[in-house]
Amino acid sequence: MPLRSSILLLLLPLLLGGNGGGAMFFYPSPQAALLEHLLIDHGGARAANFSAAVSPCTNYVTEVGEPSRNSGRTTAAQWLRVAEAGAITGGIDASIGFETARAENKGSAFDGSFTFWRPFVNEYVSMSDLIALGTVMSVHLCGGKAIPYRPGRIDALHADPTTGVPEPETGVDETLEEFGRAGFNKQDFIALTACGHSLGSVHHGGFPEVVGPGAVTPTNTNGGSNFDSTRGAFDPLVVHEYIDSTGSRGGPLVTSFNETARSDLRLYESDGNQTMRSLYDMTTEAFQDTCAELLGRMIDTVPSGVQLRDTITPMAIKPINVLWGAPTIPKVVTLSSGNFVTSLRPEPEKGCTAYGMSNTYFYPFSIPSSAIGDATSFAVSGDNMTAQTFPISRAGRPFFVPSMSSATGISASFTVASAADSGLEEEVLVVQVAAPIEQPLTLAPKIVTATVNLTTTDDTRSGFRFCKGSYDVHQQVTGAISLTLTQAGETLDHLLLGAGVAGW
Ligand code: HEM
Ligand SMILES: *[C@@H]1O[C@H](CO)[C@@H](O)[C@H](O)[C@H]1NC(C)=O
Ligand SMILES: *[C@@H]1O[C@H](CO)[C@@H](O)[C@H](O)[C@H]1NC(C)=O
Ligand SMILES: *[C@@H]1O[C@H](CO)[C@@H](O)[C@H](O)[C@H]1NC(C)=O
Ligand SMILES: *[C@@H]1O[C@H](CO)[C@@H](O)[C@H](O)[C@H]1NC(C)=O
Ligand SMILES: *[C@@H]1O[C@H](CO)[C@@H](O)[C@H](O)[C@H]1NC(C)=O
Repeated sequence: MPLRSSILLLLLPLLLGGNGGGAMFFYPSPQAALLEHLLIDHGGARAANFSAAVSPCTNYVTEVGEPSRNSGRTTAAQWLRVAEAGAITGGIDASIGFETARAENKGSAFDGSFTFWRPFVNEYVSMSDLIALGTVMSVHLCGGKAIPYRPGRIDALHADPTTGVPEPETGVDETLEEFGRAGFNKQDFIALTACGHSLGSVHHGGFPEVVGPGAVTPTNTNGGSNFDSTRGAFDPLVVHEYIDSTGSRGGPLVTSFNETARSDLRLYESDGNQTMRSLYDMTTEAFQDTCAELLGRMIDTVPSGVQLRDTITPMAIKPINVLWGAPTIPKVVTLSSGNFVTSLRPEPEKGCTAYGMSNTYFYPFSIPSSAIGDATSFAVSGDNMTAQTFPISRAGRPFFVPSMSSATGISASFTVASAADSGLEEEVLVVQVAAPIEQPLTLAPKIVTATVNLTTTDDTRSGFRFCKGSYDVHQQVTGAISLTLTQAGETLDHLLLGAGVAGW
């Protein structure tokens, strides 16, 4: 199913050397483009470096090699637990990081997850949106349904006064109250807990009052006691083993040696096992739908005032790295702009998506600016493809030159090109810089912003003039620095620099 045809490189003859370029267009917006990439581009060519952490689903990304395999911990499960804890403590806003960040606490779901997510955070991608993405990713890649994913969560800058991650000794009423605040009734909450407790384990390391030291072995160094016989599969087994008293019998929060710690048992019995029985009687399909619906509500639980945006769906045609720059390549999808028409050929290396594992094809292209004229968009069409049109900025408007821009980890310097005959005064150009940096007491970065004026240079080549600017963050950045070029309040171009291990 060649549904997704990502397009690379719209190029102008700029003669800047290397793979020079500029004007990075993001479709439909920087935020949706970046998150769609993380959500969809799972493997193969141009894979996002995100879902690898939870595939296979028993993977533990906080450690590597033998220690990881023998840890008895599960990253996919940790990601769900982090989202759950956020949802019931006032909504997902990453404030949970302030309550849990402890450098020495390597095994904790919170620190491990935040450490992995941290490099992906930037102006457009909040830690809170990654927390929600983690649940969507884990559930879907571990056998569950695709939960609709909506971005727009905002990171808190301090701890939340509403604490209260449910603990095994917490009473049923108290826990129900916490979830009630998040809009879940008792049945919802029982089912949600059963859905969540389909993945992962309770660990002696962290919860010795629930799981005894006997669970610790050389191949289970954290002493994980699994909720069901498939800790890495999102499936109804936990419900079946509970009702049938087989396998893990619902897991340690049902069977703990310590009665006070049997919180799942108390919860499941709080309506005489009715909800658990109805989950038991469902088809697997219906169970998965129920979980996807409940988990969807869980990740969409946000503090009042936060407005989530449209659901991100796989884009059938997605232009990526479209920029003005120096030419190379072309040729069986058709691309047209102005009077220019060309057919495109896919690169040999395909990508694969997290959705049904269909393939992604990449069609590089370049168009001489002389052929574009005054075009302000380009169109992509082909056999069995709905034609789509994407806007580009007008040729001759100022744009970033990536090959003449860079980030060092604590600073960014950048070059903007504009047509020499445009008569434009560079003084009217302003660059907004946003950089993610460490903040005390949590592993969630905060974003610092600045406005930078540009200075003209004597450099004039190929009919372009260049101006420069720089910004010193004075502190190690944790992820990509984003730049927005504006003129009198109008956005002309975007550029992301120095994504590091997040590898945009
Ligand atoms: C009464 C409510 C709940 C209580 C008392 C509770 C308690 C716990 C405890 C003590 C652990 C063990 C953590 C560890 O050893 O690392 C755990 C794990 C887990 N919880 Fe819950 N939980 C509750 C509800 C939920 C809900 C609603 C979800 C999500 C939808 C959820 C998802 C998970 C997951 C996925 C794990 C496995 C984590 C791992 O393997 O690292 N829990 N829970
Ligand atoms: C049982 O669990 C409770 C609460 O989780 C804890 O206070 C108590 O010390 C535990 N008892 C044992 C024997 O571990
Ligand atoms: C609920 O189900 C569990 C597991 O099958 C069983 O042990 C328990 O006795 C049941 N409780 C009630 C109140 O039916
Ligand atoms: C277009 O779809 C038709 C019918 O599904 C199929 O026979 C044909 O091979 C497709 N063409 C391409 C280029 O995928
Ligand atoms: C940038 O330019 C504006 C207008 O010329 C000026 O008011 C402002 O102080 C300048 N900012 C810096 C950081 O130089
Ligand atoms: C992907 O992430 C790993 C660490 O999680 C890092 O070692 C690797 O360089 C990254 N790959 C890219 C392409 O950035």
